[in-house]
This record gives sequence, C-alpha cells and structure tokens, in this order.
Amino acid sequence: MFTADMLESIKKVEATREERMKTEPRRMTAEEKETLLKEYHPDYRADGFAEIKIGPNKGQKAPKELTDLLHSNSRLLKTPVDLSKVDYETDVLVIGGGGAGSSAAIEANEAGADVMIVTKLRIGDANTMMAEGGIQAADKENDSPVQHYLDAFGGGHFAARPELLRRLVMEAPDAIRWLNDLGVMFDKEEDGRMVTTHGGGTSRKRMHACKDYSGAEIMRNLRDEVLNRNIPVIEFTSAVELIKDDKGQVAGAVLLNMETGDYLVAKAKTVVIATGGAGRLHYQNFPTSNHYGATADGLVLGYRCGAPLLYQDTIQYHPTGVAYPSQLFGALVTEKVRSLGAMLVNKDGEAYAHPLETRDVSASAIIRECANGRGVDTPLGSGVWLDTPMIEILGGEGTIEKRIPAMMRMYLNYGIDMRKEPILVYPTLHYQNGGLEIGGDGFTKAIPNLLVAGEAVGGIHGRNRLMGNSLLDIIVFGRNAGKAAAAKAKSVELGAMNLDHIVSYAKELEEAGLATDAVSPLLLPKYARHER
Ligand code: FUM
Repeated sequence: MFTADMLESIKKVEATREERMKTEPRRMTAEEKETLLKEYHPDYRADGFAEIKIGPNKGQKAPKELTDLLHSNSRLLKTPVDLSKVDYETDVLVIGGGGAGSSAAIEANEAGADVMIVTKLRIGDANTMMAEGGIQAADKENDSPVQHYLDAFGGGHFAARPELLRRLVMEAPDAIRWLNDLGVMFDKEEDGRMVTTHGGGTSRKRMHACKDYSGAEIMRNLRDEVLNRNIPVIEFTSAVELIKDDKGQVAGAVLLNMETGDYLVAKAKTVVIATGGAGRLHYQNFPTSNHYGATADGLVLGYRCGAPLLYQDTIQYHPTGVAYPSQLFGALVTEKVRSLGAMLVNKDGEAYAHPLETRDVSASAIIRECANGRGVDTPLGSGVWLDTPMIEILGGEGTIEKRIPAMMRMYLNYGIDMRKEPILVYPTLHYQNGGLEIGGDGFTKAIPNLLVAGEAVGGIHGRNRLMGNSLLDIIVFGRNAGKAAAAKAKSVELGAMNLDHIVSYAKELEEAGLATDAVSPLLLPKYARHER
C-alpha cells in the first residue's frame, strides 16, 4: 500500500524507535511556541483573511470564505415570505440536530416547554457524531475543576471568557453523570470506574471515552432520548433567516424545506442556534474532519440579525488528519492515538516535538516539518509519521484493537495495519474556536431571547480548544440553553413579526459598496450536487 519512498522512510522510523522511546521530546517553552505559531499556524496567514465591512464586527478580520458569507444577502430579500401564515408555533425552537441542539431540546422538554428541532439534514448529522477521542471532566480524586480550568485557559491563550469556561469545567462532572445515566457506554475498569487518559495540554488524565467513537455513542443516546420524548424533529429543513418582532426580540425563523424548496414559518418565543461548525468552508483549502453540513449557517443567521461574533478569526486545525491514503484525506486521526503513546516523527525518523503539545502548536510543528522538506511526499501533498506500533509496544499487544478499534479498521480497509506500520498525517480543518458571543446564561447580549450553544458559540475555549472540551461544551451549554430557553419562554409576549433586518442589512452592504446577488447561509458545501 505504501510507495517505495514511504517504505524507505518507514525503515528510518523503525530504526530510531527504540532510542526514541527512551527519551520523550521535551515540551516547548512559551517563547518557542509563540515563534512557531506566528511562522506556521494558518491563523497567522494574512492572505487567508479579509476585513468584515459591515455589521457588529465591522473592521475585524475573518476567514475569507466566512467574510464572503457575511457579505451576502438573505435569500428572502428577493423572495418575500408571508409571515402571517405560521406553519409551526412553539415555545423553544432549536436550530440544529447535533449534540448541543439535542441536549437543549431534551432539557427544554424536561422543563415542560413546547420544543421542536429543525435540522437541515437528519438528527445526528453533526460534528458530534464525528468526534472520536473523548470528553473531558475533572471527576477523579487527583483532579479538580480548577485544574481543568487552568489547563483550558492556558491552552486557549488566556482568551477564554471566564464566565463561560468556569461553567464548562464546573458542570463537567454532572455532564458525564447525565450521559452515563442516559445510557452512554463509557470505557470502564472492572470495578466500574471510568477509564481516563490524557489529551494535548492536560495536566491530569480526564478524558472519558467510548473507545474511539465517543461522539457517535453520545449522539446515539441523545437522539434516542429526543425520539423517546416525542420531541418533534423537522428534518431536511434549514433555517434560512431569523424572524424578529416589533420589540426587537427574536420571534422564530423562516425555514426552507430542502426537498420541496418551500419556505415555512416557525414562530417561537425563544430560539437556540445550535448549528455547529464551518469545516466545509475549507478555509485556506484545508481538507476537513467535519460532517457534510458544517457551513457556519448559525453564524450568518445571528450576525445578519445583529448578534456579534467573537474570535471569528481563530480556527482549529487538528494536527492529525489523514494524509495518506488519499481516499481518507483529511479524516480525523484521533488525538487519542498520541494519548496512547504514538510519537510524531518526520521522514528521517526524528521525533521533532512532544506528541501532546496543544493542538495549534502540534499542527504548526507538522506544517513546519513538511514546509522544510522533512515531511513524506504523498499524492496530495505531504505528511509526517504517527508511530502507531509504539502503542502496542507500550500498552501491550491488542491495545489498538481494544482502545481505538474504529481507527484500526478505517486503515485496514485500505491495506494499512497501524499495529505494525506507522501512519501518515497532516493537519485538517477541525473546529471553529470562534462564533456568536453569549453571556454565561447562554443568551446573546444583542438579541433578546436568542441563545446559542455548541460550536456556534465563540469564547468558551479562547483562541485554541483542548481535546475533549467540545463534546463537553455541547452537553453543558446545550443543556443550559434548553433550560434557560424554556424558563424564559414563560414570560415572553411576542409582538408583530417582521424581517426588516434583512432589508437594512442589504442597505448596509450597498452603502459599503458591496451590493451583491450572493446569498447566505450556504447550507450545503459548494461542491454539493443539486438535483432540482
Ligand atoms: O482527536 C480527537 O479525538 C478529537 C477530539 C476533539 O476535537 O475534542
């Protein structure tokens, strides 16, 4: 399966293995990290970004592809919708059927509210489903939420919003308990204690996992709970615009039936945006580990309505996306592979960095190796080795099959046995660190009764997220959004609904010299096939 050059390089990886295993590479100093990031991290590539010309973040930068969407008009500008014909009416409208949206819906239902989920694909078609390595929570005796906070705050370059990060770490143990009670089958020791491992930048082993399909197992349970509670889920239906009322409150959303092309009106007292990430915008031409629908829709919906973004200029490139074979290009190779002991090694067999540096640092170091000719050539670029046979040496034969079976099978499908041969990796677009700004209560500050949860939120993790804190944030902030939205809905009196904001947005675009026929949100990747 490997090319002759790759096989030649594997010999060097094997020849240096014994020596490498005696001394792990040291961690970089803060200064070394800063220099590395500035030189190699894609967030520092000026040509990947453009200035936002209108709206609450005017004058700030965002990835070019996102800026283009923010500089587009609403679909409804030229296709008016009759808001007096209401198709759905509910207390809480949840936009997005992933982990955050499902958690929000479950808690809103538990609180007695009428709640419905609208999702452009199917419930569970979300980045939650793609998550592999695990979920963090400080629930062992040698750990504490304070320790968790310090790790995440430092890893995020001290930029996380304290009120959000505090909530994340304090409510983490309860999130694990809730998931366990729902039926999530976490990896456990014989005595019932949860198995925990390290992730990049963690000072304690607090990663709880379901082998290497943690997200799929969590989503399976959340989806079952939503369905068991008979919460309405409107699938293949996208939210294309938020509706406001004459008091300036959010009042629902206009929906697009993706199959018939019909527009529908959903009236709601509170709205939760839980639309997930943006990987399918392929910033700077990176491949992505994200699901098919990750096109930053919620950011566009909220922004056009007047809700500010936070840290929209910072993106997470997961250090280890598949570099080879080409059929898997960009797919996630879970960080757990490194937690279990695999080292990152360049084409000469050198372990050039500690395997569990934080993600931005690790990704930058891989890009550096490849940019300086120390990567291994592949049909689609280059990559470095992840020395996976080390896992079997360190943990004993069978460790890979037991702890990361999905990864093992993914490679076996293409004739690569990661128990015996190293694998080739290169960074892949994985996560948007930024998103819509919220307060500690989950509400946007600008638009009354509008909440945001999950990857569409900016500020929970600062400018870089640690592994396992995303599965955690969708649960913590999803649950809280559902509870808060249900409570708030009790006192909301809606006024007359309107879409005036799309007209004023178009005017702002025109005044900025950006009159356009382009429309957003994107809904599906640019390469989607449109049959109709
Ligand atoms: O590497 C991983 O398994 C990814 C985890 C995450 O993004 O939290």
